[in-house]
Amino acid sequence: MSDTTMKDIKGSTNKDQIIIFDTTLRDGEQSPGATMNMQEKFRLAQQLAKMKVDVIEAGFPIASAGDFDCVKNIADHIKDVQIAGLARASIKDIDTAWQALKGGFNPRIHTFLATSDIHLKHKLKMSRDQVLELAVSAVKHAAGYTSNVEFSAEDATRSDLDFVCRVFSAVIEAGATTLNFPDTTGYAMPDEFAGQIRYLVEHIPNIDKATLSVHCHNDLGLAVANSLAAIKAGVRQVETTINGIGERAGNTAMEELVMAIRTRPDQHVVTSNIVTEQIHPSSRMVSTITGMPVQPNKAIVGANAFAHESGIHQDGILKERTTYEIMNPADVGLSSGNLVLGKHSGRHALKDRIASLGYEELTDDDLQRVFSRFKDLADVKKDIFDEDIEAILMDEVLRIPNTYELISLGAMSGNQTLPTSGIRMIVNGKECEGASLGIGAIDAAFKTIAQLTGTTCQLLYFAVSSITGGTDAQGEVMVRLEAADGKIVMGQGADPDIITAAAKAYINGLNRVAYLNMKNKK
Ligand code: KIV
Ligand code: ZN
Repeated sequence: MSDTTMKDIKGSTNKDQIIIFDTTLRDGEQSPGATMNMQEKFRLAQQLAKMKVDVIEAGFPIASAGDFDCVKNIADHIKDVQIAGLARASIKDIDTAWQALKGGFNPRIHTFLATSDIHLKHKLKMSRDQVLELAVSAVKHAAGYTSNVEFSAEDATRSDLDFVCRVFSAVIEAGATTLNFPDTTGYAMPDEFAGQIRYLVEHIPNIDKATLSVHCHNDLGLAVANSLAAIKAGVRQVETTINGIGERAGNTAMEELVMAIRTRPDQHVVTSNIVTEQIHPSSRMVSTITGMPVQPNKAIVGANAFAHESGIHQDGILKERTTYEIMNPADVGLSSGNLVLGKHSGRHALKDRIASLGYEELTDDDLQRVFSRFKDLADVKKDIFDEDIEAILMDEVLRIPNTYELISLGAMSGNQTLPTSGIRMIVNGKECEGASLGIGAIDAAFKTIAQLTGTTCQLLYFAVSSITGGTDAQGEVMVRLEAADGKIVMGQGADPDIITAAAKAYINGLNRVAYLNMKNKK
């Protein structure tokens, strides 16, 4: 069936606007190690609102008291965008989600229940009739709170489609206004997925009363392709995350989906509301907050996405940009040569630059701390780039309050010396200091931090890179730590001194463990 013969689905008029439902804060946070604290989530939600996503899925309020607080904080303070909260098909989940969401602008309850036989048999131990009944009662309960109710049929792509049609039709009658068809396991192929969507459109008699949505996982690298195929087949909401982060191999990458639609209007009948110039600032914010680096060859937001290496290509670009570029880098928020500030730049210039990176609402105190760090850096580094400023913002604005904080570090290393590190830091509000020997200076620093904090994390991964070019560049260290109870967290730190950057990354990881412990205790 072509787009033009498609039955009229709610939200699906001729020149349709696709609804971008962003789940970076919920499914994205399910990426192993990508925990975000309340402040980090709030900053990111502000940025998502700035890039004009239509719906922000802010979290899963029943999951923990910390999750509840994060969703409530976002719903209470971020207006002009729908805020959604996830809930299983249970009264308690839905009541809790509503308590978190109710202060929001057009809040959405997103409830879900699996429909595949494999989930029914092994996970839910329920019959199809029981699932149908539970889905209807959950949606009715949610609809008692708000008319903005989304129902997701978990593992929909491996479900019997006639059963999904029965469930969708019944939940529409019960009050669902968005029906989500997730490829939970990333199993679908684009043609097959489009065929499934068309089947739903043809076989759900009351489909015109709801918006059809998809939520794709990237296990076979097809999340974006499947989402685009689904749009062609008639869906008008797509669930995405920035940088494609999410459970296992992640979700549909928002930046890829949005730029595919924008770059090929001849192929897509839809447009999106997304302010594409905010794509790069958002991508960098997600990467620094979660500590998950973006692979250099990642489409749209990777460091090489607009880099031309071959001489033939460079020559072509110089003659005419469109010879080898299908998108203008400025359209995704990449300024050409992002040299921004230097030693002589003042507070005002810094404030402007910070705002353009998506951090508009800094308090005077925040700005003062960032400015004085900026001046320290400008004393040792000639050119200050956006990435340098973001690294400072990470330390000074997003990571407060911290359980552990580095005050100073001294280290000795070399091939004829016993590597040593002495550290002064704050642990639970108290200043303390210590020193250790190690295999190298970083090993010595990590041992000292472990002693001072009384922690026993295993270092699973360590990577160092330079934030910008030049020998005076700040080093950025990413670590992955496993806590004694099996929790896995990422940590990130940046500094012109690599050993200090490593210590900051390690301490950032420990702060995430402390945050998770506190969040789950509340
Ligand atoms: O992948 C999935 O099925 C989900 C649902 C909760 C929408 O994340
Ligand atoms: Zn998912």
